[in-house]
Amino acid sequence: MNKENATEEGVFDLVIFGGDGDLAFRKIFPALYYRLEDGQIKNTSRFLAVSLKERTTEEFRKILLSEINSHIKEAKQPIVDQLLNMTEYAFGIAKTTSYSDSYNLWFTNSTNEVRVFYLATPATVFGEICKNLNEQGNITKTSRVVLEKPLGTDLKSSEEVNNQVAQYFSEEQIYRIDHYLGKETVQNLMVLRFANNIFERSWNAQEIDNVQITVSESLGVGKRGDFYDKYGALRDMVQNHLLQLLCLISMEPPVTLEADQVRDEKLKVLRALRPFDKKSIKKDTVRGQYTRGSSKEGQLPSYLEEIDKYESNTETFVALKTYIENWRWGGVPFYLRTGKRMPHRYSEIVINFKQVPHNIFPEKKNIENNRLTIRLQPEERIELRQMVKIPGPGGYRYKPFSLELDYADHFENRFPDAYERLLMDVARGNQTLFMRRDEVKASWEWTESILKHWKNQKMPNHLYEAGTWGPGDFIMDEGNSWVKSQHVAKIQEKKNEN
Ligand code: BG6
Repeated sequence: MNKENATEEGVFDLVIFGGDGDLAFRKIFPALYYRLEDGQIKNTSRFLAVSLKERTTEEFRKILLSEINSHIKEAKQPIVDQLLNMTEYAFGIAKTTSYSDSYNLWFTNSTNEVRVFYLATPATVFGEICKNLNEQGNITKTSRVVLEKPLGTDLKSSEEVNNQVAQYFSEEQIYRIDHYLGKETVQNLMVLRFANNIFERSWNAQEIDNVQITVSESLGVGKRGDFYDKYGALRDMVQNHLLQLLCLISMEPPVTLEADQVRDEKLKVLRALRPFDKKSIKKDTVRGQYTRGSSKEGQLPSYLEEIDKYESNTETFVALKTYIENWRWGGVPFYLRTGKRMPHRYSEIVINFKQVPHNIFPEKKNIENNRLTIRLQPEERIELRQMVKIPGPGGYRYKPFSLELDYADHFENRFPDAYERLLMDVARGNQTLFMRRDEVKASWEWTESILKHWKNQKMPNHLYEAGTWGPGDFIMDEGNSWVKSQHVAKIQEKKNEN
C-alpha cells in the first residue's frame, strides 16, 4: 500500500452498483457480514447499494435481511442488524445520469478516506458509471474501482472497457476480480510451490510429463442462460479462471509477494502460451454442449431446454492442450478442461511426473508414475501417489498408494469465501490478487487464437449427455488419460454401488 493511501484499517465507504443483483446478495453482502463478524470491518464503514429500481433504504433493508438469512446459515442477529444499519440504498441509472437525492446525500455525508466503487453490473455500462462518478465529483484520490468479469467478449471489447475506465481511474486504483485468485486453496498453490523445496526442484520439463487442470461443474446454466449463451465456456471460464490457475502452477518464483512482482511472473506465462493455428485447433481443442441426461436425482434438461432456444452454437464444455514455450516447460503438455453438467463439481490440478527411466525389478510390471493431485474444491486435499512394496515374500511386488492430506482434518474453521479476502484486499489497497491490464490483454490475445480458428474452421460442438464427463478424450495423446484424485474415484464408486 502506498503511503498516500494509508488509512485506518477496516474503515471504508463501499458503493455497489448492481447492489440488488445476484452477485451482491450471494457474494458481496455475505462477505461483508463475515468480515464484520470477525471484526475486520469497523462499524464506521458505510455501504451504499445502487440499482435501477426506485425503493427506499428501509425497503431495501427488508430485502437484504431475507437474502442474508437465505445465504448464511444461522446468521447472528446483532451482526445482521449492524450490516443493515450500515447499508443504505439509492436509485441510479447510469445511462440517463439519473440518481436519487439519497445518492448525493450519501456522498455529502462521507468522511471515510477510502472509497470503493464496486461495479457488479454488465461491463457495457462500466464506462458510463465511471464517467458519471467523475462528473458528480465522487472520485477522490483514495478511491478504488472493482471490475467484475467478464471484461468484454474479445480482445477489442475488453480493451474498450479498460480504456473507458482508465479515463477516470489510474491502474493503481483498478481492481479486476477473478474470484479464483481469492480462493484459499488457490492461494495455497503459492505456499505449496514456494515454501516446499522438494516440489520446486522437480517442477520442470525434465521431471514432469504433463499437467492437467479440471474445473468441473455439476450444475447447468440455470437462470443465467441469456448471459451464458453470448459467452460460452471458453470466455466464461478458460480465459480467466483456468488461465489464472495455469499461471500460478507454472510461473517462476516471484522475488516477493508484492503485487507487481507476482503479476509480472504471471504475465510472462501468458505471453509464452503457444497460440493455436488451423492445424492444432482441430487436434488440440474440443468443444461440447450438453444434451438431456439423468442423474440419481432424476432427469436433467439439455442446454437448449435450459436457455429456451431451438439452436445455439455456444459451448458448455471445452478441453484443450496447450504449451508454455519457455525453458522450464518446453514440450510439456498442459491439458485444460471445464464444463457444465458434469457428474460432480470439483476442481483439481494433476501433476504427472515422468516414469522412472529404467525398471530394475524382476517382475517388470508397470511402475506407475508419481502423481501430485491438488484438489481445490469442494474439499481441499493433496494426494501424492507413490509406489510401495507389498509386504511379504514373493519378491519385489509393488503397488501405488497415495499420501493424503485432507485440510478438514487439520483446519477446523470455516474457510472464508474468496470474496471476503478480495473485498478486504481492495479496502487495504493490495492488488496482488487482482489482474493487471496487461495480463487481461495477454490472456485475451491467446484466447482469440482459439475463437478465430473455431470460427474459421466451423468447429462443431460435440454433444454430451448431461451428467457425463464430456468429450475431453478427443484431445488426449495416446497413452494419456484424464486422471482424477482417489477422492473423486471413491465418490464415483459409491455412486455406482447405490
Ligand atoms: C463464474 C462463472 O465466474 O465462475 C460461472 O461465470 C461459474 O459460470 C463460476 O459457475 C464457478 O465458480 P466457483 O467458485 O463455483 O467454482
